[in-house]
Amino acid sequence: MRGKFITLEGIDGAGKSTHLAWLADFFRQRGIAVCVTREPGGTGLGEKLRKVLLDPGNSMHAETEALLMFAARREHLEEVIEPALDRGEWVVCDRFTDATFAYQGGGRGVDWQRLSQLEQWAQRGLQPDLTLLFDLAPEIGRQRARGARSIDRFEQEQDDFYRRVRDGYLRRARENPSRLRVIDASQSVEQIQQQLKAITGALCR
Ligand code: TMP
Repeated sequence: MRGKFITLEGIDGAGKSTHLAWLADFFRQRGIAVCVTREPGGTGLGEKLRKVLLDPGNSMHAETEALLMFAARREHLEEVIEPALDRGEWVVCDRFTDATFAYQGGGRGVDWQRLSQLEQWAQRGLQPDLTLLFDLAPEIGRQRARGARSIDRFEQEQDDFYRRVRDGYLRRARENPSRLRVIDASQSVEQIQQQLKAITGALCR
């Protein structure tokens, strides 16, 4: 049986990496083979493109940024995501195309329709079975993201940018209500895990 494709989304600092690790374990405990991956990245070439995209020393046009995200995605679909789904594995992916709509569309102002065209072109109809959107106010995200790591090209953006990113995500959620589930990321980790169990339980059956 073909596997399920689950993506996690949210502004930087929304806690999705923590929840992703927990969710992957939750599935494994249920005997499900899990493929954990991320975007941009997930392949040799994709990780190289990730370096280019996140390097604060690089500047690029917003549409170039969107095209590079989709280039990495096409490779990721071809090399990792589709083969894993075909093997029956569940793919749990840290960000996917909703991030391009939110960051490049909402944040940078790239035309929504053009992004839809690229989405069609790169994905050929494939969509995640479920997308978990960890929604959080940018002010809180910024405080949480402020860690030991150095700041990447996106994290150096101001709250205004992240407000537009958040709005972009929420617009995607309104446009895709059956796929995207919005989770209030200001809740405690335990509360969120309860919610994740309830939401993904239906997929496990
Ligand atoms: P990460 O820090 O969650 O791994 O994501 C890397 C950064 O890349 C994050 O700031 C969001 C950004 N990004 C986009 O701008 N567009 C995209 O399509 C993806 C996948 C990520």
